[in-house]
Amino acid sequence: MEYISIKGGNRLCGKVSMSGAKNASVAILPAAITCGGVVVIDNLPQIEDVTNLAKALESLGAKCEFTNNNTLVVDATCVSKHALDANMAKSTRASYYFMGALLGRLGRAEVPQPGGCDLGVRPIDYHKRGFTTLGANCTDEHDVVHLSCDGLKGANIYLDSPSVGATINLMIASVFAEGVTMIENAAKEPHVVDTANFLNKMGAKITGAGTATIRIRGVKKLGGGEYTVIPDPIETGTYMIAAAITGGDVTVENVIPKHMESLSSKLREMGCIVEEGGDWIRVQGNENLKACEVKTAYYPGFPTDLQPQMAALLCKANGSSIITENIFEQRYRYASEFKRLGANIKIDGRMAVVKGNCRLKGATVHATDLRAGAALIVAGLAANGETLVGNVCHIDRGYERFEDKLRSLGADISRITKDE
Ligand code: UD1
Repeated sequence: MEYISIKGGNRLCGKVSMSGAKNASVAILPAAITCGGVVVIDNLPQIEDVTNLAKALESLGAKCEFTNNNTLVVDATCVSKHALDANMAKSTRASYYFMGALLGRLGRAEVPQPGGCDLGVRPIDYHKRGFTTLGANCTDEHDVVHLSCDGLKGANIYLDSPSVGATINLMIASVFAEGVTMIENAAKEPHVVDTANFLNKMGAKITGAGTATIRIRGVKKLGGGEYTVIPDPIETGTYMIAAAITGGDVTVENVIPKHMESLSSKLREMGCIVEEGGDWIRVQGNENLKACEVKTAYYPGFPTDLQPQMAALLCKANGSSIITENIFEQRYRYASEFKRLGANIKIDGRMAVVKGNCRLKGATVHATDLRAGAALIVAGLAANGETLVGNVCHIDRGYERFEDKLRSLGADISRITKDE
């Protein structure tokens, strides 16, 4: 079995460049199905979720070719299949974007329930209600969502909460809907904006992405072209926290500092020095970190995807910190693994109390999901002795060359195979 081994205690120092955003890439790849020409997508992170989605595109009839590690050429003009294989769907959460893409392009879609991280119940009722509002028939049969329509019609869609997945899925579907579609209470996350920019570059007419109201005027056809994915805010945040927890001095390059404001201000509040320029952020740690309160929220609030990594950092703060998880019901599954490293975390519903001044010590732990895996690695960087993180498949879904990048900053980290 594969493990990531971290011998903790090294201060991270130096510069590290960020990859393309996972959550933007995994939306843009399925969205490429709507394009009527060859699409060149650049700055894709080399991660399992991207590889799996490229395979899923091929399984539907698209031609895909990686011209280098981070550039995929997609020709979806010949897509004719509307049913996605169950294993493809299970490989990533983002497979749900094939619903909107296939429905818009072919007028029908059969997409099995998506996979992805187990963070408690993750319903897709807003997606399905939205497709129905656009005029599609939507039924669930044996865990497969069946969608069909005789041309979608623009409509007003109101989301009960600003779901990223539903916003993007409905935006993709309505690119060809006749007339105007309005998505109200839309998610404002950077990957919503990036997906809209991608579709617009190919000929869509979307305005308002990044605000609570997105307006899509339907077009007859999209073309092809080139697009570069934005840098990954969650990867960026993970390295910023890794710098802070090791008392290091790290400049994270190829980033959009504005996307990181909620984290940058929390790190400053805790006593770190955070400086930023056009496309970089420098984080200098502090021996005496202050405890704080963290509440996850939709963008521009503190991202739930950085909550586990932040919990690792709070173990090293002076005093007790409180985390409130407002997005997912069960995002503290990592707590029992943290405890093996000596952390003192008490969970009560959506709240976690993290006792600081903790002397973390190396142990064998297992990633319970993607970001929990990253958080265990971050904790391992600050622990005494060796930490072995298992279930690395979760981590490989979302971080490009994680060990290489951390090693370049001075971490003692490697991948090992161990007999059970
Ligand atoms: C996406 C991200 C994930 C991130 C999350 C929140 C991708 C592939 N994944 O996940 O990394 O953690 O946003 O930023 O981009 N909800 C419903 N019904 C729905 C849809 C959502 O009740 O139809 C609820 C969910 O249960 C959850 C909340 O809305 O409580 C947020 O979900 P959503 O923003 O849709 O997250 P995901 O698309 O699952």
